[in-house]
Amino acid sequence: MIHGFARALLGLFLPFILLIPGCSKPFVYPEDERSQAEPVRSADWIAVLPEGEIRRQVVLGCTPCHQIGPPVAYRKTLEEWREVIGRMKKIDDDLDLSLIRLDAEELAQWLAANAKLPKHGRYIATAKADIREYPVGVKTGFYHDMAVSAGRAWIADYFGNKLYGVDIDTGAVDSFDLPVNVAPGKPGGAHQIDTTRDGMIWITFTKAEQVIRFDPAKKEFKVYSGFEKGGNVQYFVMDADRYVYEDKDGGIWMTHFSRVMLSRLDPKTGEIKKYRTAPHPRLTEKGVHLYAAVADSQGRLWFTETHGNRFGMLDPRTGEVTVKDMPEKWAGPKRLAIDKDDVLWIPELATGKITVYDTRADKIVDRLTLPIAGDFPYGIRRNRYTGDFWITGSGSDSLYRLNPKTKAITIYRLPRRGAYTRTVSFTDSGDIWTNYASFPNAHTQVPFDAGVVIRLRPQ
Ligand code: HEC
Repeated sequence: MIHGFARALLGLFLPFILLIPGCSKPFVYPEDERSQAEPVRSADWIAVLPEGEIRRQVVLGCTPCHQIGPPVAYRKTLEEWREVIGRMKKIDDDLDLSLIRLDAEELAQWLAANAKLPKHGRYIATAKADIREYPVGVKTGFYHDMAVSAGRAWIADYFGNKLYGVDIDTGAVDSFDLPVNVAPGKPGGAHQIDTTRDGMIWITFTKAEQVIRFDPAKKEFKVYSGFEKGGNVQYFVMDADRYVYEDKDGGIWMTHFSRVMLSRLDPKTGEIKKYRTAPHPRLTEKGVHLYAAVADSQGRLWFTETHGNRFGMLDPRTGEVTVKDMPEKWAGPKRLAIDKDDVLWIPELATGKITVYDTRADKIVDRLTLPIAGDFPYGIRRNRYTGDFWITGSGSDSLYRLNPKTKAITIYRLPRRGAYTRTVSFTDSGDIWTNYASFPNAHTQVPFDAGVVIRLRPQ
């Protein structure tokens, strides 16, 4: 947040800063017939905002819950922006997330001055896929993630504390109360869902500060408590095969959204051990947002700091920690993936780029740009069956497939507007899985009164 004098100065100079050539290059939409027929999507709306540090901070603050722009999350006048941003800050504060860092008035002024609704979208060639949508769970829920195990696709409701499993053949849905330790009516904060190699489902609970393991065959829960209070248990460290990482002694690891630390859980004894990472030179601990992590072949853990704008490494054997700045300010590194050569593929939420970092050579070896301007990639996942990477086109209602050798990117469009996705999951049949993960869920325009799991079968 910017205060007093600094804000007054910024107010004075902001209009000039925005006029500096090169500082603001809005995307120009082609006027061809096919583009004229395209709907305006969130990424299109972002693409015409002047590129620069403010736009990147808008993306970082406004897209972690839902798409911004059309179909539902936009305004026109200053008064309208003020009103809605006030409400958003309150939601952010009530959930104790510290996502929206820009000053509310500055943000409202900037959006009123710069946000425009393009007349139409942009045509871009997409690949064919057979897509099936499965309605699962109540419409009022918030379903952050999904995973497939034991013939079902699983989602969990952040607010409603329920786990839903939809049969991937019949579409029949089973539901289970999640045994989280929260007062009735309070959110457990179900966040990440992923599986270990034995098919067990693991879920983090950012609000209950717990981790739950679910056996989908026996339908049994095991609850782990005792994590750092107020730490926001966030994200399991993942491996190159996109399983929850298990270290050589069977330990599993997780990040905490509100702390610069990782925890190790011994699933047999329930013992939890904490490992501190590095403090940030400018941000309070709560503002860093140490988000996702992956393990390399040596058991070193590589993590991203979304607001801290760094990535780093914790070596559990020695306690050594190193951190590096992202190549650009406010890039917003999010859910990264690692490949079998210990190369990191880091999606940048606020730039639409992917930083490729070779951990063995200690070098950024590439920085790829997604083909849809204004898109904000939330997550990259490696398909263990093919070695391809799948990237969520969270602002363009799409999924991207990235060939790591040729760097070619294929676009698959999801059938709904507002189709905000955060994860991709894979089955050995060649199917690709995700879910509509907007908060609020109703921001995705679907004909169902439900959450939605998606199966995408490339043709
Ligand atoms: C912590 C989650 C979260 C963040 C971060 C967030 N929003 Fe929202 N947003 C919501 C929820 C929940 C709703 C629906 C409830 C409501 O409108 O109050 C919503 C609705 C909206 C709407 C539609 C409101 C309507 O009535 O049509 C707009 C516009 C919007 N958000 C803009 C923004 C902007 C701009 C930002 C960044 C400053 C932002 N949001 C950040 C959760 C969030």
